[in-house]
Amino acid sequence: MIVRRCTKDDLEAIYKIEKESFSDPLKKETLERDLARDSYYCYGLFDTELMTFVSYEKVFDEGQIISVATAPCLRRKGFSKKLFEKLTELAKKDGVAIFTLEVRSDNTAAINLYKSLGFKEVGVRKGYYENPICDAILMDLQL
Ligand SMILES: CC(C)(COP(=O)(O)OP(=O)(O)OC[C@H]1O[C@@H](n2cnc3c(N)ncnc32)[C@H](O)[C@@H]1OP(=O)(O)O)[C@@H](O)C(=O)NCCC(=O)NCCS
Repeated sequence: MIVRRCTKDDLEAIYKIEKESFSDPLKKETLERDLARDSYYCYGLFDTELMTFVSYEKVFDEGQIISVATAPCLRRKGFSKKLFEKLTELAKKDGVAIFTLEVRSDNTAAINLYKSLGFKEVGVRKGYYENPICDAILMDLQL
């Protein structure tokens, strides 16, 4: 297994997992544009194919997490945690001092994942998400 930064050649694989993972997935065109931007970072854990990815926007020394998803058949096997741990190392070397994110308050899997990585809850945005309406939990991780 290897961890590497994704390129435009990984677009289809990222989009497949994105579609399988979110009720309101990013459009393929948006992902394609993002992958071409210098401040957009998407790292994947690859075996024979992409297993899990994490994307973030780098704004000065802040990494704003955009998307995190593991292929449905590969969940709960520690792959996302493994990728995140490697990513944290790489991002730190690249000058990221803090990761920030927002997560639906009903997304127990993701909240547990972030807590297991050391993310702390720092705020709540009431009724931030729709379909169904739900709070956003704000979390961050100092690197
Ligand atoms: C959230 C998600 C990325 C986790 O990926 P994963 O590869 O399955 O996570 P891991 O196997 O690395 O799990 C690491 C830890 O996260 C927590 N966790 C992961 N899935 C969980 C679940 N279904 N229920 C409760 N805790 C869970 C656990 O603490 C787990 O450690 P453990 O297995 O030793 O208890 C995955 O469930 C997913 O793709 N969900 C859909 C997309 C999504 O909601 N993304 C987050 C948007 S903010």
